[in-house]
Amino acid sequence: MTTNHQDNQNHGQNGLQVKEQEVVVVMVPFPAQGHLNQLLQLSRLVSSYNIPVHYVGTASHNLQAKVRVHGWNPLNIFNVHFHDFEIPPFVSCPPDANGTCKFPPHLQTCFNASKQLGHPLAQLLVQLSSTARKVIVIHDSLMGSVLIQEVRVIPNVESYCFHSVSAFSIYLYIWESMGKSIDANDAIPKDIPSLEDCFTKEFLDSISSEYDYRKFNSGNVYNTCRVIESAYMDLLDRETMSNKIKNWALGPFNPVTIVPQKKNRHFCLEWLDKQAPNSVVYVSFGTTTAMNDAQIKELAIGLKQSNQKFIWLVRDVDKADVFSGEVRRVELPKGYEDSVKYTGLVVRDWSPQLEILAHPSTGGFMSHCGWNSCMESMSMGVPIAAWPMHSDQPRNTVLITQVLKVGIFVRDWAHRQEIVTSNMVETAVTRLMASKEGDEMRNKAAELGRQVRQSMREGGVSCTEFNSFVAHITR
Ligand SMILES: *[C@@H]1O[C@H](CO)[C@@H](O)[C@H](O)[C@H]1NC(C)=O
Ligand SMILES: *[C@@H]1O[C@H](CO)[C@@H](O)[C@H](O)[C@H]1NC(C)=O
Repeated sequence: MTTNHQDNQNHGQNGLQVKEQEVVVVMVPFPAQGHLNQLLQLSRLVSSYNIPVHYVGTASHNLQAKVRVHGWNPLNIFNVHFHDFEIPPFVSCPPDANGTCKFPPHLQTCFNASKQLGHPLAQLLVQLSSTARKVIVIHDSLMGSVLIQEVRVIPNVESYCFHSVSAFSIYLYIWESMGKSIDANDAIPKDIPSLEDCFTKEFLDSISSEYDYRKFNSGNVYNTCRVIESAYMDLLDRETMSNKIKNWALGPFNPVTIVPQKKNRHFCLEWLDKQAPNSVVYVSFGTTTAMNDAQIKELAIGLKQSNQKFIWLVRDVDKADVFSGEVRRVELPKGYEDSVKYTGLVVRDWSPQLEILAHPSTGGFMSHCGWNSCMESMSMGVPIAAWPMHSDQPRNTVLITQVLKVGIFVRDWAHRQEIVTSNMVETAVTRLMASKEGDEMRNKAAELGRQVRQSMREGGVSCTEFNSFVAHITR
């Protein structure tokens, strides 16, 4: 892996060099992949302003974040410090790939376990606040309660809430909680999917239990970019104006320039090198999707029938601790890999998603539409065939397909309890990869990607907003 110097240079060069130890930032991620990754990526950007970053979690979650990161190597950045906290052991409940609600139970285990981080975190903050002029805590929206009372009263500690989802999703919650009565300037499409089957009841209660802690925050941080979501950032600003809380769109957090490696490249990148431009669809459903055997089979057949080139990441859902216990091996139809050896590549280990999306041969992404994947796909200019599973994914799909028009549905969320047949998979893949409509969408996505990447360069909207965020936290 190489450090992305180019990205680092884009920030921290605008007369905003901050004296070390003056201000330090503490990242408190929620311990599940999509969340760990976003705050680790944000750490890279903050550290490029010469601000020391302290990233906290259990040893296993910190390791998970480090080994899975794409596009740069955290060990090459001297001012990102990892703090491995010890907490009592926790055991994941196994996922139910056949259940009606696809929300993965390990996230509840993670939520419960994360509450044990309060005391070691308090010790760290007490220590840091005694030497630094100011300690800025950026915590996941699910982690507010981990900042215990003892910490809240330290005068030089200031906290910011990181929302791991789109501004669109957050605004929809607010809009719905106000009885949908507020005028949203036509920014909200018709037929927003309900949250039914998106979360378990227990997890919704867990989310609500964190709301109270928002009152302690000095601002909200989003992994989004005004190029993509200015309408929703403006609406959020309108909502928080009265209590003087600022909303910062600092994304995309992922590197936007990928420097191709010369050595030790993943085999799927070597394979991509041999394919025609925009000819490959990348298929991955992230770390929180458990597909049952019947659905895997339909997907396998559909991909094969489409006759399009594909890279399919076949993995089971993560556990609360990804380094312990057995992993269910997802079974493909007998002889499948051999039968697609000229068109497809099946990958079973962790894949370099960002590099795949950045590769010129990749022309489409079949995705569950988790927010990380959406941001990565949009920054690399790749259109999406959306197959949402749970959480914010159905709503991200609306943003991608209806608002931004850089993607299509694989199946409508209304039919979520039905199996997606091989014909539906084939139709979606050919529509995206081999139709005029698909080509137009690819052009649109490529243009959006150019604008998103531009936003992170000096003078771009995200870079400018990042500079003001840094000026604000170091004021
Ligand atoms: C999480 O904690 C709550 C409250 O302490 C408890 O009722 C619930 O069973 C726990 N769930 C899991 C999955 O550990
Ligand atoms: C789902 O249900 C089917 C049939 O009831 C069963 O054979 C299978 O093992 C179950 N689990 C998965 C992961 O498919």
